[in-house]
Amino acid sequence: SAGVRSNVNLYPGYSPEKVEEIAQQEDRRWSLIYIDGNHDSPAPLQDAQVAERYAAEDALILFHDLASPDVAEGLNYLRDRGWNTMIYQTMQIMGVAWRGNVKPVEHIPDPAVNWTLPEHLKDYPVCNLELSRVLEKVKSFTLLGFERLWSLYSLAKQVCEEDIPGNFVECGVCRGGSSALLAWVIKNYSRRPRRLYAFDTFSGMPDPTEVDRDYRGVGANDTGFGSGALAAPISENLEVIARELGVWDLIVPVPGLFADTLP
Ligand SMILES: C[S@@+](CC[C@H](N)C(=O)[O-])C[C@H]1O[C@@H](n2cnc3c(N)ncnc32)[C@H](O)[C@@H]1O
Repeated sequence: SAGVRSNVNLYPGYSPEKVEEIAQQEDRRWSLIYIDGNHDSPAPLQDAQVAERYAAEDALILFHDLASPDVAEGLNYLRDRGWNTMIYQTMQIMGVAWRGNVKPVEHIPDPAVNWTLPEHLKDYPVCNLELSRVLEKVKSFTLLGFERLWSLYSLAKQVCEEDIPGNFVECGVCRGGSSALLAWVIKNYSRRPRRLYAFDTFSGMPDPTEVDRDYRGVGANDTGFGSGALAAPISENLEVIARELGVWDLIVPVPGLFADTLP
């Protein structure tokens, strides 16, 4: 029903024996392996061992239900063999081992849940745990929803990781949540010194002109976003959230109208 039947080969049988058999018969190496079979020891370890034996040089092995210490034996094995490893903090706890030219998918732990890791996983890094806490703090200082914050975060991080030169500029800061997030990305991922220039009147929307109308033709002052709306004094907003994230020194607020300040 998903329309992918022709992309799937189904092999009835038991792992690890069947996996070994197919790998040898077909001379296969796999680059993506998902282990979510028998969750009782020693099955997960055996699955991990056979997975590693037939894994490509660039490969990712995903585990489900690491809440079970028996399943964690599989991930522990790969970690001890030198694979990169990381936990995805989900209800039953997923985890990933990878090597070579592979980028594991990103996941953010639900900030509404007060997560704790079971003792047998406590030495593993958790994917985006810190980011989840940052987004929770930023939430009340931004008009942006989660998806837009995620998009902003991902693109800013990419610029930093690819070491593309230049400062960041935000036009429209308001309470400063998105600015603080951008500065937090700089602090954590930038490979060169850079700052965030934060442009806003900080005293709200400027007076509209005749052309400032919404898609229905309603004048700006009649939309709820008229002159003075969204005023957000720096010391009570941008500065508060930026200090809370420890990034105030990376932000240069530029008060005034874009038309005057940007040039
Ligand atoms: C949608 S809000 C920005 C939202 C913010 N990025 C956030 O994360 O919540 C738009 C902001 O742009 C500012 N603004 C609009 N027109 C401006 C202009 N011509 N010059 C300076 N600031 C302006 C407003 O004061 C307002 O704070």
